[in-house]
Amino acid sequence: MRSIDIIHAEHRACGAVLQALGFMLDGIRDGKYKPDFELLAAMIEYITEVPDKLHHPKEDEYLFVKIRQRVPQAIALLDKLIADHAEGARRTHALRDALVAYEASGDTYFSTFESIARTYIKFSWNHIALEERELLPMAEKGLNPSDWADIDEAFEANRDPWSGPTGEFQALFSRIVSMVPAPYGLGS
Ligand SMILES: [Fe+2]
Repeated sequence: MRSIDIIHAEHRACGAVLQALGFMLDGIRDGKYKPDFELLAAMIEYITEVPDKLHHPKEDEYLFVKIRQRVPQAIALLDKLIADHAEGARRTHALRDALVAYEASGDTYFSTFESIARTYIKFSWNHIALEERELLPMAEKGLNPSDWADIDEAFEANRDPWSGPTGEFQALFSRIVSMVPAPYGLGS
């Protein structure tokens, strides 16, 4: 099931950026790192663009539609996950605004930015965990091989795997890794 592999890979990539964002927040709070606004902006761009442009459309338009047809007991969960997708888009917008305010206001705004970012990280982890622990196992049980063939075909035809249509998300991910200090990245 190529589509499930793609979903897992995108969850892992977003999870890695969320974890690195938490690590940067710890470092800034503890006075270990100065805020690197280029890095913070790249991370927020990744966790905004990849879910909105690449990941959620595949789930909403193909995978969730098929699960809704085949697994009636998943309907309430699907409704919650779809509502989360809309809520996530609102939250990343607020996070971008908070970063702009943090850069303009300086250290006095850090705790506000941190609180918005930490709430977002928690929200996203909970969402990914719901899909990984509850929805995908239900889908693997309830969908048949021809359903998976249809979903795989739609995923391949309509959205490139997690690198994005021109590889831009993979490039953005590599840029983030090059800026984040060890042990999460290769930066200094
Ligand atoms: Fe997902």
